Amino acid sequence: MDQKVYELLNDQVNKELYSAYLYLSFADYYREEGLDGYANWYEIQAQEERDHAMILRNYLHDNGCKVKLGAIAAPDKTFANHLEPLEAGLEHEKYVTSLINGIYAAAVEANDYRTQHFMVWFIDEQLEEEVNAEDMITKMKLFGSDARSLYELNSEYASRAYHVPTPLA
Ligand code: FEO
Repeated sequence: MDQKVYELLNDQVNKELYSAYLYLSFADYYREEGLDGYANWYEIQAQEERDHAMILRNYLHDNGCKVKLGAIAAPDKTFANHLEPLEAGLEHEKYVTSLINGIYAAAVEANDYRTQHFMVWFIDEQLEEEVNAEDMITKMKLFGSDARSLYELNSEYASRAYHVPTPLA
């Protein structure tokens, strides 16, 4: 595998594990706030991020590449209201999208068609994650200041269930 493609893929394992850690910190915030539905949503999101790391790790192994695990940074965000984690989540997903695009671009540069094909799943996943993050922001802005509506939104997020992603099924 091309060295740059390899390094970006290996780094992305760490970035996805950091994403899991970050979303776990969001879940902690919402648990402390008594919004267990939002906490559930981010606990599942953390699981999905760990899955993303595993998909990348498996791909490196399948290609005979050594996986080098690095230290995961501590999430350091504090939140002043229920909207802030949602906005931080969208900002983070946009950043991850830029990383995924960067891996794809490097694979194009290296004529690595296999990795280009592999990354399509992540490209689609990033669209879904940004749409979800935007939707949560919109709903919180519209309804979050009304206690009854917030209760209903929280109940909606409590019903999110975890599904094993296709590449790991
Ligand atoms: Fe692994 Fe939220 O992207």
